Amino acid sequence: MRAEASTVAPVHRPETGEIVLRAQGLHRSFGLTRALRGIDLEVAAGEILAVMGPSGSGKSTLLHVLAGVIRPDQGQVELDGRRIDDLGEAARARLRLTEFGFVFQFGQLLPDLSARDNVTIPLLLAGVRRGNALVRADETLAELGLADHARKLPAQLSGGQAQRVAVARALVTEPRVLFADEPTGSLDSLAAEKVLLSLTERARQRRTTVVIITHDPRTAAYADREVVVRDGRLSGATV
Ligand SMILES: Nc1ncnc2c1ncn2[C@@H]1O[C@H](COP(=O)(O)OP(=O)(O)O)[C@@H](O)[C@H]1O
Ligand SMILES: [Mg+2]
Repeated sequence: MRAEASTVAPVHRPETGEIVLRAQGLHRSFGLTRALRGIDLEVAAGEILAVMGPSGSGKSTLLHVLAGVIRPDQGQVELDGRRIDDLGEAARARLRLTEFGFVFQFGQLLPDLSARDNVTIPLLLAGVRRGNALVRADETLAELGLADHARKLPAQLSGGQAQRVAVARALVTEPRVLFADEPTGSLDSLAAEKVLLSLTERARQRRTTVVIITHDPRTAAYADREVVVRDGRLSGATV
């Protein structure tokens, strides 16, 4: 194991492959809370990276900084070699819409819209015409085994089905990177397994890069590599 006292933070990087995301020297505080304390991380194209670590260690903050949801206080983030951390609010919002997909612990589907209408939303926001958006939504739902549920409202779906709709919504725009923050945290283990399997299978077929935060050690089995966040730093195995 690496010495904790090391002054130069190790760069956590994949063994091979074109780098999609590169973070260097990330620091981010909330008042007196130092959520990120110097993080260097690289993620390769098509890689599925699991981010583990205890509650409060800085995982969600790291994901938000990598995805341009919030800006770091120090350090930088590059997507395909272009800096994104210094972009303004509107440019980062656009980037999140066109380059990134998001899945959260509680799917955050709109309750009054059917599954397929939920999945069309990111396409409509990106300017795709409704007819095309519906076709693509139906295709993506079918790929996730949800063809029979496309017209149901979120309340008519099981927790696992709703999370798979959320995965469909995140993938429908064919994002460069899919970010998932504890996407199975609210599910029983069987449903969780199914969501993870469909997420990772679809991502591998499309060569979508995935950054997935999880408490579940089994998630690592679906990932190519695992990093651990502790007290705002990356530590431990990079297997
Ligand atoms: N918006 C915020 N305002 C204040 N403190 C925050 C905010 N977001 C995160 N924190 C704090 O930063 C630390 C890291 O939080 P977080 O990144 O959410 O951890 P994790 O996702 O690993 O549970 C925690 O101490 C948390 O309370
Ligand atoms: Mg979190």
